[in-house]
Amino acid sequence: MAEREIPWWRSGVVLQVYPRSFADSDGDGIGDLPGVTGRLDHLEDLGVDAVWLSPFYRSPMADFGYDVSDHTDVDPIFGELADADALIEAAHARGLRVIFDWVPNHTSDRHAWFLASRSSRDDPQRDWYVWRDPGPGGAPPNNWTSAFSLHGEASSWTLDEHTGQSYLHSFLPEQPDLNWDEPAVVGAMHATLRFWLDRGVDGFRIDVAHAIGKDPELGDNEPGRRHDQDWPTVHTRLRAIRGVLDGYEGDRMAVGEVYLLDQGALAPYVSVGDELHLAHNFVFLNLPWSATGFRATVDEFERLAGPDAWPAWCLGNHDHPRIASRYGPGPARVAAMLLLTLRGTPFLFQGDELGLTDVEIPPDRVVDVDGRDPERSPIPWEPPSRAGPGAGFTTGEPWLPITPDAERVAASVQAGDPESMLTLHRKLLSLRRATPALTEGSYRGLEAGEDIYAYERGGEVIVALNFAPEPRAVGASGEGTLLLSTRPVAREGMEVDLATLVLEADEGVIVAVSRVRCP
Ligand code: NOJ
Repeated sequence: MAEREIPWWRSGVVLQVYPRSFADSDGDGIGDLPGVTGRLDHLEDLGVDAVWLSPFYRSPMADFGYDVSDHTDVDPIFGELADADALIEAAHARGLRVIFDWVPNHTSDRHAWFLASRSSRDDPQRDWYVWRDPGPGGAPPNNWTSAFSLHGEASSWTLDEHTGQSYLHSFLPEQPDLNWDEPAVVGAMHATLRFWLDRGVDGFRIDVAHAIGKDPELGDNEPGRRHDQDWPTVHTRLRAIRGVLDGYEGDRMAVGEVYLLDQGALAPYVSVGDELHLAHNFVFLNLPWSATGFRATVDEFERLAGPDAWPAWCLGNHDHPRIASRYGPGPARVAAMLLLTLRGTPFLFQGDELGLTDVEIPPDRVVDVDGRDPERSPIPWEPPSRAGPGAGFTTGEPWLPITPDAERVAASVQAGDPESMLTLHRKLLSLRRATPALTEGSYRGLEAGEDIYAYERGGEVIVALNFAPEPRAVGASGEGTLLLSTRPVAREGMEVDLATLVLEADEGVIVAVSRVRCP
């Protein structure tokens, strides 16, 4: 019997593109869809298999696109519908898959659905959103709080004077929550999936996927039990969404942003195999830099998720400080090796392949409501000395400042440097592609020395990562050929014995095992 081909979302690597900050084709200072299409060479040269695009739909941009006012059109800032089609076509022509961001928990308050819903208590779409009478003295209906905490804790409810009721918003008041207990909402949102699936998209990243199941009684959140997310109904809803995707040919995929900081709660989203294909793991993303911490978390997820679940690993996205700022430039190279060699699908955030750090934003240029501008600074493609102050991102004034390091870290500069972060990523991706043990092989954590996280993949490859800023002995058993090191001074091709090998500060190595010694 012919073996079933491994689906692309298991063997592949995904690059997240934040369109506002990727490439600007028309000089308005804001990245757009033609800009992404024009830079697909970068993705191909990097060696990724798929691109996830953050939202580019029509939006008033209160949350930079995560407040959608029309799910089936492109915001003029980013282009037009034909540009989305052209991007899908151009990516497919290069063998790249395309994932769009789908925002099911809420819409913009300017969405036609919400405008109708808020117009009167009797409107047929009233129940498409969550409306309740306020408590005594106009108090919120319950104790739920909204997510953006920069300005202190705020209620998830806003009183709408017009009809005298409050509506629920897990994020900004401009992002009212849809009522997934209302069947018409389910139908309408499934239709938005089909709209893009029909146009050829390969899958979706589902924004706050765990939030589309809430306690219909709106019970107060309690210590240890939230009622505003991860309610059992979420699983039925995700199964139905999976059903929509499975109705299409070609391995369409759903990866959920399941922001639950407990792997025991996360695992059920992927362990049975009929809900999400993948779930981003924020326990992993939020770990401090420690060999024991990473090992314990990976081992725990492998155990909890079971043999059928497929892990997804990411250490950055547009909501979190950058890897190189959190962990430092040396560890960032080790983190890249970790992400690209664990068992599971790696997700990289644009610019992490360049080792970009957070960019300081002067107070008068702050635009995000939740302090996330520093990681959203535009990509420096070219050194400013060659391309001007827009660094190849734009010919205009960039919407956020570009890194002051652009001269040194620009993509074109790094492409020609054998020791750059970009070159390391290209090497890691090409080795991964050429080594089935790294994509499909089993995972086994190994006993190793202090500050070393070592694991074996598929019985053929050992990865040993030094988390310390000083040399450390690997202290694991096994011999083989060193295929790749994260350190600029490479020792590639050397025969090594992992029992005696000493890694330099912030060094990770991949070794093709010739012999595993019995302890
Ligand atoms: C998660 C997204 O990643 C974030 O950028 C957004 O603000 C919230 N969800 C609300 O949609």
